[in-house]
Amino acid sequence: KKVLYSGMQATGKLTIGNYIGALKNWVNLHEDYDCFFGVMDLHSLTVRQNPTEFRQNARRIYTQYVAAGLDPQKNCIYFQSHVPAHAQLGWILDCYTYMGELNRMTQFKDKSAKHADNINAGLFTYPALMAADILLYQADLVPIGADQKQHLEICRDVAERFNNIYGDVFTIPEGYFPKAGARIMSLAEPTKKMSKSDENVNATIYLIDDKDTIIRKFKKAVTDSDAEVRYDVDNKPGVSNLMEIYGVVTGKSMDEVAKEFEGKGYGDFKLAVGEAVADMLEPFHVRCAELEKDKAYIDGCIKENAEKASYFANKTLRKVHKKLGLTEMI
Ligand code: TYM
Repeated sequence: KKVLYSGMQATGKLTIGNYIGALKNWVNLHEDYDCFFGVMDLHSLTVRQNPTEFRQNARRIYTQYVAAGLDPQKNCIYFQSHVPAHAQLGWILDCYTYMGELNRMTQFKDKSAKHADNINAGLFTYPALMAADILLYQADLVPIGADQKQHLEICRDVAERFNNIYGDVFTIPEGYFPKAGARIMSLAEPTKKMSKSDENVNATIYLIDDKDTIIRKFKKAVTDSDAEVRYDVDNKPGVSNLMEIYGVVTGKSMDEVAKEFEGKGYGDFKLAVGEAVADMLEPFHVRCAELEKDKAYIDGCIKENAEKASYFANKTLRKVHKKLGLTEMI
């Protein structure tokens, strides 16, 4: 079987952007691959975290992977910080990644504009650690949203650079981007990506939102003044975003969605989108609640999978050390 690798930052609460852009596709693909899914807690340290909240959020994200349909007995679901090889290979890859490459990253530019008081070195070298995540497991496929494309490209470039010097060390991974929903937009500013760190809570649907909250947020979603449900990203970004969300959730094409709401107002349309999303999340909420009660089960999975991930990651790390000429311990 081929290897699939992906993960999410362990910060904050997952959004329907994270779900539609990534998690949903992990669930769809997982049976055909040997899968590794990380809760990327080291990456989260690029922004200051409140330790108590951070621990809770990271644990919730782990549980949400499982609640979404990834069986932790078949998939290796683990915390990045439990596998030291990530940081170890991350350092090595820092030395094979150029400042010029990192300087071009739009996420670095956005985040350093947002956190001007804390533009730390980790924020800058973030893509090298992400490359380490993927390359440690010799991943073939990396299902991610459109915003991570640049990072995956750096990963491929660094892997090729390394292989060119030392022979075939790393598998070169391919990205997997969903046909619809690779970039879910903010409900409040539909030309901006929906983000878990948005300060405006109405901009984002969190996976833990209840039905009333979801419907209320969709009701408030920014649209336009021409009252026509038509897919046109440039001129109707708000409506197009809602159509895309509705299409992914119901499995309908943009034409079918347009037809369904022909002659109907935005009120009906927004309510239908809200209901569809809430219905989709209902079984997920039930499963999350069940899992949260079963602490021992999740604890066991966390430990076992950290060991399993370490086994694979260390194999690659040893190979890298050897190729580099680092001295072996006898
Ligand atoms: P993160 O935590 O920002 O997002 C997790 C996943 O969700 C996708 N995503 C979206 N997709 C569609 N629309 C949106 N509005 C939206 N917002 C987020 C992201 O593209 C991503 O797939 N650097 C990564 C985490 C990471 C990683 C990795 C991913 C670290 N190491 C190795 C894959 C492989 C990140 O910050 O994702």
